[in-house]
Amino acid sequence: MHADGFETLAIHAGQEPDPVTGAVVPPIYQVSTFKQDGVGGLRGAALGAGGGSGGGSARWIEGYEYSRSANPTRGAMEECLAALEGGVRALAFASGMAAEDCLLRTVCRPGDHVLIPHDAYGGTYRLHDKIFTNWGVSYLPVPMSEPESVRDALASKPARVVWVETPTNPLLSVADITALADIAREVGALLVVDNTFASPYLQQPLALGADVVVHSTTKYIGGHSDVVGGALVVKDADLGERIAFTQNATGAAAGPFDAWLTLRGVKTLGVRMDRHCQNALRVADMLAAHPRVAEVLYPGLASHPGHEVAAKQMRGFGGMVSFRHGGGEAEAVAFCGRTRLFTLAESRAPGADDARVGGRVGTRGARRPGPPVGRHRDRRRPARGPPLGLRLTPPAVCAVA
Ligand SMILES: Cc1ncc(COP(=O)(O)O)c(C=O)c1O
Repeated sequence: MHADGFETLAIHAGQEPDPVTGAVVPPIYQVSTFKQDGVGGLRGAALGAGGGSGGGSARWIEGYEYSRSANPTRGAMEECLAALEGGVRALAFASGMAAEDCLLRTVCRPGDHVLIPHDAYGGTYRLHDKIFTNWGVSYLPVPMSEPESVRDALASKPARVVWVETPTNPLLSVADITALADIAREVGALLVVDNTFASPYLQQPLALGADVVVHSTTKYIGGHSDVVGGALVVKDADLGERIAFTQNATGAAAGPFDAWLTLRGVKTLGVRMDRHCQNALRVADMLAAHPRVAEVLYPGLASHPGHEVAAKQMRGFGGMVSFRHGGGEAEAVAFCGRTRLFTLAESRAPGADDARVGGRVGTRGARRPGPPVGRHRDRRRPARGPPLGLRLTPPAVCAVA
């Protein structure tokens, strides 16, 4: 256990025993609507309880109206995530992309401009390039690992949002959150950090100066490849209220069962991440020594350009390893097809109890990632025993050729 009590929060925050039955785990409130005490009178609302995040144990039984607006199971998960990220409020969504969309709709207006990482997760890039540009919100890809490039980009065109992802998916570049927070603050831009690949266990962007944390909870937070979800965590209550308004107005909230699965998954986040970090380092070392591997991208290697920044702002270096294959595209594709313990699949849940290998091959480059090789085809063969004497929790590997 760590002295900061992370694991204790993961198990207890938002998860007080049910005041009605004493159930020790928040039940799945699989309901659309809630009985009212009178016309327009929510149960217990006069007591000031309920309505999502916060509110103590009474939250579970009082103050609810309709599950799009708030649901007790979702509220429990939101309270836990807010505690883990050190925010005042979290909001849970049907997917990571729904969370990103809701945030951008809340804070941007036509004519606004957003800086995004030049190697942002492909879905983030697509959201800006194919959706928000249609609504008059422009974007510019910038290498976020170079704070001076960010400063220059802001000087040439002010931005409403500086969108950071660290480490990035899939190239694992690292951005200095504190430095970027200072730069964003100088020009009044909102600093948003997609913390999916680090998880709150390894990195807490709000404490480093970020305004909003984004998660695809589909990944490490859920951790079991059985739920798609997303979350936003804020440190400003007013912004939280504005996002909640958009979420209720547009409706992409997480369902109760998804929230329950995610809350169950997050309980073990700390122990899983510790093991992922250990395993990833061993895989990275093994790949670095391999004659067919041209380059290994892992922030835990001293050779990684973001190693020092990662060491400063992360508790560990994460469970993702990318590498460039030394051969051509065909060889890289063949590698992905040959893996034994890694399931060939879209890396939907790095951190699950099995692992993923995905390939991004060809010349499209990380800024516009192509579909992974063999998407959704499960070629896992019976495991003959874990490599390197490890349990079956190796990190996901992404081949970038
Ligand atoms: C870094 C990052 N952000 C956001 C997302 C989008 O999340 P979701 O797939 O849950 O919509 C992903 C998905 O892979 C991701 O890797």
